[in-house]
Amino acid sequence: MYMRLRSLVLSAYNALFARAVEKLFFHQLVTKTNNFGKSNWLGKPIWQNTFDLWIAQETIYEIKPSLIIECGTNRGGSAYFYAQLFDLMGTDGKVVSVDIEKLHDLSHPRVTYLIGSSASEEIASQIREMANQVSGPVLVILDSDHSEDHVAKELALYAHMTTVGSYCLVQDGIIDELFMFRKGRPGPLPAIEKFLTKHPEFEIDHERCERFLVTHHPKGWLKRIK
Ligand SMILES: C[S@@+](CC[C@H](N)C(=O)[O-])C[C@H]1O[C@@H](n2cnc3c(N)ncnc32)[C@H](O)[C@@H]1O
Repeated sequence: MYMRLRSLVLSAYNALFARAVEKLFFHQLVTKTNNFGKSNWLGKPIWQNTFDLWIAQETIYEIKPSLIIECGTNRGGSAYFYAQLFDLMGTDGKVVSVDIEKLHDLSHPRVTYLIGSSASEEIASQIREMANQVSGPVLVILDSDHSEDHVAKELALYAHMTTVGSYCLVQDGIIDELFMFRKGRPGPLPAIEKFLTKHPEFEIDHERCERFLVTHHPKGWLKRIK
């Protein structure tokens, strides 16, 4: 009895200790990299946690989307990265990326850049039309305004465009977890949690979220299961 209790206490302690080390490391990593704000993909600025970008690459290879819908173009590196993965895979994939402002002069034959709010009906209807035109998988990536209200609007407008078996990735739930991002709260996590209570057709792919221990997108990989 004593041995069993001792081993329970030890494993709880180890789990807590491991979580504290992960958080500390993540805090240092975000500080050191200026929140990954200076990363590049083949010379193009891309604002993504490198661990998360690797998961995105694996997911894109696995799903082989015909269309990636990206909210939040910024300086264009992520849309460019997704388009070049399609080039490497030799598939028919396209990307549509929307931002409220144009912050780049990139172009790629697979990418359609839209300017406007992702929460506007005007933008959503253009994207809906593109999603209706493809016969293969659709992957949705929400990386624009990370406030709860805006993410909730994007989930309402775009999540249903995700095809069964594919994903809606809600980025930057870390805002609700890491103290240094507290000014951006409430962020994506409450929007995800509320969305999931009404949408049993989606579930969190925890393994995908937690593979590299640290992630900007806790609970962010929402798999459409039906
Ligand atoms: C985190 S950055 C996107 C980073 C980009 N995906 C990358 O990986 O390099 C967020 C972007 O969302 C844009 N944004 C903010 N509010 C928006 C809205 N309502 N609709 C569309 N884009 C918005 C900002 O202008 C900003 O460029």
